[in-house]
Amino acid sequence: MITLRGLTKRFGARTAVDGLTLDIEPGLVTGFLGPNGAGKSTTMRMILGLDRPTAGAALVGGRPFAELRRPLAEVGALLDAKAAHPGRSARAHLLAMARSNGLGRRRVDEVLAAVGLTEVAGRRAGSFSLGMSQRLGIAGALLGDPHVVLLDEPVNGLDPDGVLWVRRLMRSLAAEGRTVFVSSHLMSEMERTADRLVVIGRGRLIADAPVADVIAGSSRTSVRVRSPRAGDLAALLAAEGVAVARAGAEELTVTGVPAERVGLAAHRAGVPLYELSVREASLEDAYMELTGASVEYGAGREAAR
Ligand SMILES: Nc1ncnc2c1ncn2[C@@H]1O[C@H](COP(=O)(O)OP(=O)(O)O)[C@@H](O)[C@H]1O
Ligand SMILES: [Mg+2]
Repeated sequence: MITLRGLTKRFGARTAVDGLTLDIEPGLVTGFLGPNGAGKSTTMRMILGLDRPTAGAALVGGRPFAELRRPLAEVGALLDAKAAHPGRSARAHLLAMARSNGLGRRRVDEVLAAVGLTEVAGRRAGSFSLGMSQRLGIAGALLGDPHVVLLDEPVNGLDPDGVLWVRRLMRSLAAEGRTVFVSSHLMSEMERTADRLVVIGRGRLIADAPVADVIAGSSRTSVRVRSPRAGDLAALLAAEGVAVARAGAEELTVTGVPAERVGLAAHRAGVPLYELSVREASLEDAYMELTGASVEYGAGREAAR
């Protein structure tokens, strides 16, 4: 469990994280979404005690990171895939981490196998591709067998196999009852991975809800109606204040109301229907809608940091 209470970080005049209050529960994958510059990495750094909050608190299992007795056993994190010393082998990097946390060589071999790096464990981390570096970073996160796993943009730069692998790993960690908190500036990979979404923009909380609720709440979810009397039905709905648009001679697109409302209105007026179907907004649509007003940088102008 991760607890944020009024968590705030200012860098000079700039407020990077602005009063975040939320609980990130065990047993779920919680996707942490927001455009580049929204404050995701800064939030994660504060959870890990790497940045000091200007105000508020970030707790892991009810305690600030600095008070955790066995940090690696409480929380494992991948913040920066290229953090390993480039001159050290993957195994040496993990062994150094293990030693400083009272963990043995066997655990290092276990996590190397878990992330599929056993074969290349003797190679210098500096020679690794981004995908291999991400795997090494994840091995480090898993080393202490932690209750809480934090991954900052873990699929950046991964090939489709790697993306699928990370997705499955996150699902299985959550299924084991761990708290999984994973950030991304892209919606697409969250769609199949996350149970819950925390969306931020300009450091502020925009949404904290199950994925399905975020989709259902989008105004881009619409009802498609086909009827030989589409015009009559459109006039009827418009008179009731419902948002309705003509999509063809016999077709309407209705937004903001459930399909039942349209079906009942048609029934009352004796208007025959050929089709009444709901078109769910994609999570991508819902995300764009939620964060549209808080995009910090135009697409591609700032790489994920
Ligand atoms: N060490 C720092 N000094 C000054 N500003 C920073 C620092 N770290 C982050 N920021 C600023 O804080 C904001 C949030 O950044 P960040 O947490 O990296 O966002 P995200 O991870 O969502 O892309 C950005 O405007 C960024 O430029
Ligand atoms: Mg970031």
